[in-house]
Amino acid sequence: MANLILSLSVLAIAITWTTLVLAHEPSPLQDFCVADFNSPVRVNGFACLNPNQVTADHFHFKGLNIPGNTSNPLGTFVNRPTVLEIPGLNTLGISTVRVDYAPRGVVPPHRHPRAAEVVTVLEGTVLAGFVTSDPENRLVSKVLRKGDVFVIPFGLVHFQQNVGKGNAVTIAFLSSQNPGVIAIANAVFGSNPRINADVLAKGFQVDPSTIRKLQAPY
Ligand SMILES: *[C@@H]1O[C@H](CO)[C@@H](O)[C@H](O)[C@H]1NC(C)=O
Repeated sequence: MANLILSLSVLAIAITWTTLVLAHEPSPLQDFCVADFNSPVRVNGFACLNPNQVTADHFHFKGLNIPGNTSNPLGTFVNRPTVLEIPGLNTLGISTVRVDYAPRGVVPPHRHPRAAEVVTVLEGTVLAGFVTSDPENRLVSKVLRKGDVFVIPFGLVHFQQNVGKGNAVTIAFLSSQNPGVIAIANAVFGSNPRINADVLAKGFQVDPSTIRKLQAPY
């Protein structure tokens, strides 16, 4: 009996430990692990370049001061250097993103499967919001002005819009070297192949013709 309890405790600890290992980027075990994109070794992230070959350039990225071109249907431009552009981010659990907004420009509802986010407004006035899972579907939103900071909790659906008269700029930091982005409308109505229209019609409680209109052509 004591043995069984011991085994169960060990199992419980093992499961907890496994969850921790899978859910988080690991704590550093060395100064850095600059991504070696040429290594054949497949790990979670990238293998480490020999530290003797690492230079300042591996930790460096230029151009986040340059406004992006917002002449597109959303009226925003996202410059998101991840570990692929900054190999020194590998294993560190952090990255950054600049967004430029034309007046009324939006970053449409989306989520980051691997990151929480802290947004800072550098210019303009931006409405930012996220929707909670508990309580279910509660919108938490705020109009942010220059210098304001807003937190987007891990994995939640969120959006931003420039609600000022001029252009706006935000810089954000994300808790992953590769946060990923799932644009909700694209994932639901623009997947390849398409999600069956009947599934979406039932799911959204509208008729299939409405769904087919939302399902843009390939
Ligand atoms: C911005 O993008 C639009 C649409 O693609 C293009 O017509 C325009 O020339 C671009 N502007 C600049 C400054 O690159």
